[in-house]
Amino acid sequence: MESFQSAKEEVKRAADIVELIGQYVQIKKAGQNYMGLCPFHSEKDPSFTVSPSKQMFHCFGCKRGGDIFAFWMEYHKVTFPQALKDLADRYQVTLPEKPMTPFEKEKMELKASLFEVNRVAAEYFHGILTKSEKGRSGRDYFTRRSIPKEVIREFCLGYVPDEWDGLIRYLSGKKMNLDQAAQSGLVIRKKTGGYYDRFRGRVIFPIFNMRQQIVGFGGRILDDSLPKYINTPETPIFHKGEFLYGLHASHKSIRDNGRAVIVEGYMDVLALRRCGFQEVAGTLGTALTREHIRSVKGYAGEAVVVFDSDSAGKAAAIKSLTSFMNEGLSSKVMVLPEGDDPDSYVSKNGLRGFLSLLEDAVPMFDYYLDSKLAQKEDAVERQVNLLKEVLPVLARLDQVSQQSLYLRRLSEKLGIPESIIRTELQNWQKHHMGETPEDGLRERLSASRAKKVDDLYLLNVLIHHPQAMNRLMSLDYRLILSDPVVVGIFDAIHEIYEKEGATMPSDILESLKDEQAREQFREAMLTPPIFADEGVEQALNGFEEKIHGIKMTESKKKAAQQGDLEGLNRILELKREREGRVI
Ligand code: UTP
Ligand code: MN
Repeated sequence: MESFQSAKEEVKRAADIVELIGQYVQIKKAGQNYMGLCPFHSEKDPSFTVSPSKQMFHCFGCKRGGDIFAFWMEYHKVTFPQALKDLADRYQVTLPEKPMTPFEKEKMELKASLFEVNRVAAEYFHGILTKSEKGRSGRDYFTRRSIPKEVIREFCLGYVPDEWDGLIRYLSGKKMNLDQAAQSGLVIRKKTGGYYDRFRGRVIFPIFNMRQQIVGFGGRILDDSLPKYINTPETPIFHKGEFLYGLHASHKSIRDNGRAVIVEGYMDVLALRRCGFQEVAGTLGTALTREHIRSVKGYAGEAVVVFDSDSAGKAAAIKSLTSFMNEGLSSKVMVLPEGDDPDSYVSKNGLRGFLSLLEDAVPMFDYYLDSKLAQKEDAVERQVNLLKEVLPVLARLDQVSQQSLYLRRLSEKLGIPESIIRTELQNWQKHHMGETPEDGLRERLSASRAKKVDDLYLLNVLIHHPQAMNRLMSLDYRLILSDPVVVGIFDAIHEIYEKEGATMPSDILESLKDEQAREQFREAMLTPPIFADEGVEQALNGFEEKIHGIKMTESKKKAAQQGDLEGLNRILELKREREGRVI
C-alpha cells in the first residue's frame, strides 16, 4: 500500500456502509435507501438516510453526513486517523506508516496502550476467577449470586485476590509498562516510588466500549465492607457518564426489540441477562446523561428506566426527563417495590414477574406530572409551580408534534384547557427564548425549505444525469440560481470542468471545500432524480429559455436606458442565436 489515499479507497471498497451503520443505528429499507432515527441529533421522525448505491449517509435534519469515515468519526468521537485505523483493522486493510502530527500520534499510541494494558489485566482477573485456586472465593461469590459460567465468559468477569501486587507481577511478567498501567488506573504510584494494585480482593467487572475494547473496571468487595464498589478513575479512555454497562453486548437485542431497559448496577444488568432478558444496560450508579441517551437511541425507539423506589431514584428519573425529551427518545419509568432492585426483584419473582412490571411502565412525563401533583401544596399554587417548571422544557422541544402531545397530557392532568397552556407557552417563548442551539437548526431547516426551485432542479439534473454536464456547463447558470451555496457548487464544478472535462458527481463531492456546499450536495445526491432520462433534454431547454428570457429583459432594460444602437444590436444577436440553436 503506497499511500493513505489508496488505503482509504481500499477500506471503502471492502466496507458496506449499510452493514456498518446498521450495527449502530436502527435503519430500515425505504425505497433505494435506508432510513432511521439520527444518532447525532434529537428527532422523532427518521431523517437519517443511508444510501447503499452511493455508500454515504446524510441526515436531512441536522445535515451531518458523509462516507463511512465521517460516520465513524462522528459516532465514536474520534479523529480521522483513528477512524482510518479502526476501519482498516475491521476490514483487514494494511495501512502504510502514517505521517501524523507528533501530537496525534502520541495520543493515539497512548490510548492504544491503555486499551492493551486493560485487556491484559482483564485476562489476568478472568484467569484467576475461572482457573486458579486463588479464585475460589470469587467463584463462590458468583455462584451465590447465581451468575452462570456463560455470563462470566461473555462479560469476561474476574476476581483479584487480596494482594498488593498480584496484577503488578502479572503485568511485569508480560513486560507491560507499569506507568501505562498507572495511567489506566489499574495500579497506583506510591509516593516512595513503585506501584501497588488498585483492585484487591474484589470480583471484577470489565467495562467495554462499542468497539469491544475495555475502557475501565468496576470491582465489588465480597462482604459488607465499604466502599462496596471501586471503579476506574477518569483516564484518557474512561469518562464516567459516557458508557452504559453491557451495551456492547445488548445493542443487538435492543435494536431487535426497539427498546432498551436502563438499570443502575452491574449486577442488575447481569441478573437480567442471566434470566434471558437481553435488552438492558446500566448507568453504573451515575445520573443518566445525554451521552447515555444518545448511545442507546441509535438502537432503541424507547427507553424504560428502572429506578429504585427510594426518593433518590425517583429524583434521578425525573432529572433525566428533560434529556429524554430533548433527545427525542420516548421514555418510560418502571417502578420496583420498596427495597428491591432489578437483580433482587428478578431473583425473587422470575423473568415473568419482571416482564409484567415492565408492561406497567408509565410514560416518564406522566410519572413526572403525577409525582409533582402529589406534592402537598395548595392546588392553584401547585399548578402554577408545575407550569413554571414544565414550560421551559416544552418550549425547547425540537418537534412541534411532540410539543402538542405533551401539551395535551399536561392539559388533561392539570385540568386546564389546552388553549390556555398554549398561550402561556407562547408567552414564555416570547420572553425567554434565547439562542439555543435548536433555534439555529430550526432556522436552517426553514431556510432550506424556502430554497428556490430552480436551484434544486439544476443541482438535481447535474447529479443524476451526468450526460447533461456539457450543456449545463455552457449555461449562464448564475442568472437563475439564487442560493449562493448552489452557485458555489456550480462554480467549483465549472472550474474542474474547464480543467478536466466532465466528472462524476461522487468525485466532485470530495473536492468541495465549503461544508455547507457538501451538505447541500449530499442532500441532492440522496434526493431521487426529478426528471426521467428522456425528460432531461426538455428540462434543459426550459432552463435555457428562462435564462434567455432573463438576458432579453436585461438587455432591453439597458437598451431603453441607453437608447443606443449597441443595445439593440445585442438583442438582435440574442434572437438570432436562439433561432439558430441546434439541440
Ligand atoms: P447499588 O448500591 O445499588 O449496588 O449501586 P448494586 O448494583 O445493587 O450492587 P449489589 O447488588 O449490592 O452488588 C448501583 C451501582 O452504583 C455503582 C455501581 O456501579 C453499582 O452497580 N456504585 C455503587 C459505585 O460505583 N460505588 C459504590 O460504592 C456503590
Ligand atoms: Mn443489587
